[in-house]
Amino acid sequence: MALYDEIGGRATIRAALRAFYPRVLADPVLSPFFLGVDIERLKQVQEDYFAIALGAPGPYVGRSLRTESTDSWDRPRPSS
Ligand code: HEM
Repeated sequence: MALYDEIGGRATIRAALRAFYPRVLADPVLSPFFLGVDIERLKQVQEDYFAIALGAPGPYVGRSLRTESTDSWDRPRPSS
């Protein structure tokens, strides 16, 4: 049985993301990375990403993480 099934599938992943992003967005260091990001879309692609990473059937349709991390770090943000 895949880890995905053992943890309770998408419902569990969704619950974790629902708990995670409000904390990220409330954090003064992390929140500037997410300015202008469509958080609902992000939660959806993260759900797909974690589902597949944990053994659910694909396909993953999000952008590649290599592209993603470059975009995140290159985005202008406050320098405080
Ligand atoms: C293990 C670590 C991480 C994983 C597995 C991960 C994974 C992902 C995935 C799957 C996406 C969605 C790609 C898409 O839009 O299709 C994403 C987007 C994003 N990630 Fe990460 N991420 C990680 C760490 C981080 C960190 C440390 C930051 C910044 C502090 C970050 C900032 C972002 C931002 C800002 C986006 C949205 C980009 C946009 O929509 O323009 N991520 N990440």
